Amino acid sequence: MAVQINPSILSADFARLADEARAVEGADWLHVDVMDNHFVPNLTLGVPVVESLHKATETPLDCHLMIADPDRWAPAYVEAGAGSVTFHVEAAAAPVRLAREIRAKGARASMALRPATPVEPYEDLLPELDMLLIMTVEPGFGGQAFLDIMLPKIRRARKLIDKHGLDLWLQVDGGVSASTIERCAEAGADVFVAGSAVYGAEDPAEAVRRLRKQAASACAH
Ligand code: DX5
Ligand code: ZN
Repeated sequence: MAVQINPSILSADFARLADEARAVEGADWLHVDVMDNHFVPNLTLGVPVVESLHKATETPLDCHLMIADPDRWAPAYVEAGAGSVTFHVEAAAAPVRLAREIRAKGARASMALRPATPVEPYEDLLPELDMLLIMTVEPGFGGQAFLDIMLPKIRRARKLIDKHGLDLWLQVDGGVSASTIERCAEAGADVFVAGSAVYGAEDPAEAVRRLRKQAASACAH
């Protein structure tokens, strides 16, 4: 299982996004949190910013859509250059159709679960996805405390993925840091989003390398 570290630009300086993207070269993906002030209380950025960011960095973009009506808006993020597009199942009217559309347009399709959303009802949908995101905080803001109570869900998701022999990445997002990443890796996650733990560090690139090392050695156990 290859570990991937995706810094979240939510914790970066929004006036210097191109520089902030370059500050974490060596990261696997750049995690871009799109919030619409409807699905979550916060408001961030949209398609034009993703388009510009895509031109400004070689790092592929992992767009996490925390928006209402992703069925309508998600395809535009693929067109804007996102390599992976995550929609929330709680917001999607037709998640299977949407995942297929994202894939058909050429991006990886990913589905996110809020903390109170169980994974089991979606077992049959997993083959339609390239990644499953288990939120380890309530979506909306960076810098929140990691929810330990999500660890059993990560374990159950990993079991379902293995049971079906799927090539599906398991991402965790929220409160992932040097003090929580090992628990996530041991539970079966392989893609780690980190906002404040990367951009709040003195040297963001070094923070990425450290998190990767920690996760890789925890995975090996
Ligand atoms: C929260 C976002 C996260 C956020 C994580 O709703 O989805 O991606 O940036 O930030 P940290 O790592 O600081 O919890
Ligand atoms: Zn996110």
